[in-house]
Amino acid sequence: MLAKWWKRVVVYQIYPKSFYDSDGDGIGDLNGITEKLDYLKELGVDVLWICPIYCSPMEDNGYDISDYYRVDPMFGSNADMDRLLCEAGKRGMKIILDLVVNHCSDEHAWFKKAVADPDCEEAGYFYFKNTADEEEPNNWCSNFGGSVWTRLADGRWYYHTFSKKQPDLNWENPKLREKVYEMINWWLDKGVAGFRVDAITFIKKDLSFKSRATEDGFRYPIENLTDYPGIGGFLTEMKEKCFDKHDCMTVAEAPGVGNETFREYAGEDGYFSMIFDFTWENMESEADKSSIEAVERLKKRIFDSQRFVSKAGWSAVFLENHDQSRCVNKYLEKENICFESASALATMYFFLYGTPFIYEGQEIGMTNAVWNSIGEMEDVRAKGKYKEAIERRQDPQKVLEYFSELGRDNSRTPMQWNSEENAGFTKGRPWIKVNENYKVINVEEQKTRSDSLLSYYKKLTALHHEDVYEDVFAEGSVRQILEDVPAVFAYEREWDGRAVTVVVNFKKGPQEIQGTKAEVLLNNHKTLCAKDGKLLLAPYQAVVFDGKI
Ligand code: GLC
Repeated sequence: MLAKWWKRVVVYQIYPKSFYDSDGDGIGDLNGITEKLDYLKELGVDVLWICPIYCSPMEDNGYDISDYYRVDPMFGSNADMDRLLCEAGKRGMKIILDLVVNHCSDEHAWFKKAVADPDCEEAGYFYFKNTADEEEPNNWCSNFGGSVWTRLADGRWYYHTFSKKQPDLNWENPKLREKVYEMINWWLDKGVAGFRVDAITFIKKDLSFKSRATEDGFRYPIENLTDYPGIGGFLTEMKEKCFDKHDCMTVAEAPGVGNETFREYAGEDGYFSMIFDFTWENMESEADKSSIEAVERLKKRIFDSQRFVSKAGWSAVFLENHDQSRCVNKYLEKENICFESASALATMYFFLYGTPFIYEGQEIGMTNAVWNSIGEMEDVRAKGKYKEAIERRQDPQKVLEYFSELGRDNSRTPMQWNSEENAGFTKGRPWIKVNENYKVINVEEQKTRSDSLLSYYKKLTALHHEDVYEDVFAEGSVRQILEDVPAVFAYEREWDGRAVTVVVNFKKGPQEIQGTKAEVLLNNHKTLCAKDGKLLLAPYQAVVFDGKI
């Protein structure tokens, strides 16, 4: 069977609050995205994933939705969305939105009604519990710290996987499910090309709601209760009633899905087109990031996953997103962050088996920011965990250090467009601090420079789309090579007699490998030394070859 369209695309993720502010209120907006479409077209991306733009009190930057049908005024209007869809379409680009249906906002009309009247229909759209004493119904801990339960004035407790302003929707209720499907189809009919599906493995609950034992005596982390048995019924129904009716692309954030259930999620007939490959997301916890051992561990995780996924289905490959720190900080030691290492990282993942995603700013090598206090941070998760640490009498300074390095705000600082005030992101006061390095790292500076990271990303997307190679990336097998050469990350993609080889040296010194100089399609260095059946790779050299080497 020939590749689905979403196997041939490069996706660009936009965090709308931080992308480009067209009206000077300090917050990015839809018209700002429309203004930058030519930039994105030139970058060579085909699909834009836009994080939530719906009406929201913004407790979790839009992942708390109070009206699924309306664009939040802070981002513009529904007419602006129509215009964006139309302008993107003119340029041959598609838009996918975030679908957040594990929970909504406590300011959604459904929840307000449910709070006002325990017997109304909407009360059945959520999980409420009464307890005899004033105890929480169980010991489960929410993803943002604290209990999953919050008590209403009338004594009822409601359930939330994330913050207390994000009450979970009760998927057991067929009426609720119908409402959700209606909304999904409404957006698909409007012309969105699909969805990134948020936190979807949380929608099925352990309905016993029994407390669970923990080793430390603290609450039981809800993140252990993903992909709960019975979830498949809901997901099959959503696929049949919505996704199958449109030729859409769906990419699920599906924590907890391992090899056992991968096929159900992202196999040929899976619930979704693909799921994000999170198997190598947490490499940042390794102490000495760019040591040979660390690279070897990363190599193993990536290729274990590739071997499995390439037989089982399809995945989305990425280095960054709005929940992660910047990839250069995550995978490299500070002193090694440079064009060569950043482009080596990019080359490493871009041609893997799966659809590559680029996160805004990654293409210019944006870095983590410096956070001096919790007060500078905006992230509800960082604040929740900080508060929790104080309650548990742990050292809050440690939490600050953790979030400075790994916190989500690192990827949410404004896009660095130029060296003017606020990095050219806004004429107003930015909603979150701008990374101080914008004078050095920005689009304007890199746009005209052929040896910039931005120019390199353009070459990556161009190669991905080149007629003769497109099938190789969309259909081809993946095979790791040079497995035993320390800190060398190399693979072949192959389809129908045509092959492409990717070789990346993550060693801080030169590295010799077996290989002949096949036609070089891409090289992040000016030269490549070849002699007597050997190639001498410079530190952080990344080369893509036509054929095998
Ligand atoms: C997902 C999103 C994250 C959000 C959470 C709750 O993990 O990526 O940003 O906070 O879901 O919706």
